[in-house]
Amino acid sequence: MFVTGKYVLDRANKGNYAVGAFNINNMEILQSIIAAAEEKQAPVILQTSEGAIKYAGIEYIAAMVKVAAEKASVPVVLHLDHGTTYDTIMKCIKYGWTSVMIDGSHLPLDENIAATKDIIKVAHACGVSVEAELGRLGGIEDNINVDEKDARFTSPDEAVKFVAETGVDSLAIAIGTAHGKYKGVPKLDFERLQTIKALIPDTPIVLHGASGIPEEDIIKSTKLGVNKINIDTDIRLAFTDAIREFVATSDAFDPRKVMAPAKEAMKKVVMGKIEMFGSTGKAND
Ligand code: G3H
Ligand code: 13P
Ligand code: ZN
Repeated sequence: MFVTGKYVLDRANKGNYAVGAFNINNMEILQSIIAAAEEKQAPVILQTSEGAIKYAGIEYIAAMVKVAAEKASVPVVLHLDHGTTYDTIMKCIKYGWTSVMIDGSHLPLDENIAATKDIIKVAHACGVSVEAELGRLGGIEDNINVDEKDARFTSPDEAVKFVAETGVDSLAIAIGTAHGKYKGVPKLDFERLQTIKALIPDTPIVLHGASGIPEEDIIKSTKLGVNKINIDTDIRLAFTDAIREFVATSDAFDPRKVMAPAKEAMKKVVMGKIEMFGSTGKAND
């Protein structure tokens, strides 16, 4: 069942759990995620970066996800991850994405608000949900001090202003996570998360860069109000580790045989994340 981001995230907010948002680049990753979501009977967000769209082609992704969503017994969202240009976002809306992110996190607050409002005007008229981002991700491993933290991490006051002025459907915040592989152990600012959630309780909160975050921190984040959790790197690692292991020990050259253990490994990772996020069995929420 094809649904919007708002459909699954408002339910997650009410039920105090998070929906997994997993990046896809090809059919094998897509099928592994859907298989995991079906087995766990969990709603799922399939997300594509602008790079993924360039790699696979917008028509291919739209067609593959349409088939997957129609066949699936769980709610499926197709989301644009880190949309940066008006044109790309409009193109995704045209091709059937049910949710888009406008990433204006690098902009001054007023410009981020203006850019988000421009997207919302069109997206909402088309029944498409919008995620925006406030604050800058990354850098926790360089031991940032309190001043730097205040400059980078999402300001609770700004979050209130942002949501009031834009009416955005979900908000990605910076509390210490980073994209990619962590060098050290990330230290999340749970107090900030709690403060922000208390100020904007009706807005689902999004956590980017969640690969590699210890299970107890993920569980704590969902308890404190995170409702969408983005995972890419952990799936990439599962894929490449399985391929490396397979080709090192087998002479098989049929791509279907080479891909099989990688698909199983990705599915296992996604099932583990769904369990951690508390969305198991929430397909009919
Ligand atoms: O947040 C970024 C995602 O991991 C997508 O990465 O731009 O390499 O597809 P990508
Ligand atoms: P990771 O690759 O660190 O899991 O981040 C994914 C993400 O935030 C996609 O937007
Ligand atoms: Zn991200």
